[in-house]
Amino acid sequence: MSIESLADELRSLIKQTEEQVAYFQELGVSGIALEAVPTIDSPQQPRSQSGESMEQIWADIGDCIRCPLHQGRTHVVHTEGNRKARLMFVGEAPGADEDMQARPFVGRAGQLLTKIIESIGFKHEEVLIGNINRCRPPGNRPPTPDEVAMCKPFLLREIAAVSPEVIVVMGNTAMKNLLDVKDGITKLRGIFQDHLGIKIMPTFHPAYLLRDPSKKRETWEDLKKVRDHLDSTAKREV
Ligand code: URA
Ligand code: URA
Repeated sequence: MSIESLADELRSLIKQTEEQVAYFQELGVSGIALEAVPTIDSPQQPRSQSGESMEQIWADIGDCIRCPLHQGRTHVVHTEGNRKARLMFVGEAPGADEDMQARPFVGRAGQLLTKIIESIGFKHEEVLIGNINRCRPPGNRPPTPDEVAMCKPFLLREIAAVSPEVIVVMGNTAMKNLLDVKDGITKLRGIFQDHLGIKIMPTFHPAYLLRDPSKKRETWEDLKKVRDHLDSTAKREV
């Protein structure tokens, strides 16, 4: 065995171990410290970005009253994070905490999402996080098709502005609202979908993982595929 292949094998072993440790931490196993896996944030392919700024898009949204969800909201919750992100996460709609703080995924599900992001070696601030709907539905009911149709174009403009390489869409509702698919999340999770010229990975919603922690393993498997894809397209620094 050559030195190079041995080194490769060692690197992959270290990577695997780091992932395992991060995931154990995420599951609440304490006493292990871990540095985030360094990520390379320059994609190989040139990106085709729309040139619109987030501020322009948000200005168009304004103090929105386009759909009935405005009646129960405190704040419009916009997409947040790194505007050069290679990786984006998309959820369904704000919950109570998000509505209060005007930030996506800051409640319990959001805290789990942060751990999921870290478990594949990204920092929270390296990625982009948003929702298909920006106002909290009463009692957290799913947004209606009309409400989705009103709000989704703004998310699509944000996606065009940033042009992430991969979007992770979380949960059945968000997946069906973002993609044109018949099958449910249990069938499609873990399988890259090509949509908007972007690779989209459906996975479970973190709120669902809070209700059924046994599904965290599958989510992690899905996210590892995302990480492997981003690794494979990253510019190697030699
Ligand atoms: N659930 C979502 O789908 N989005 C959030 O921002 C918070 C919880
Ligand atoms: N059902 C959902 O709506 N979301 C999930 O993530 C899993 C099951």
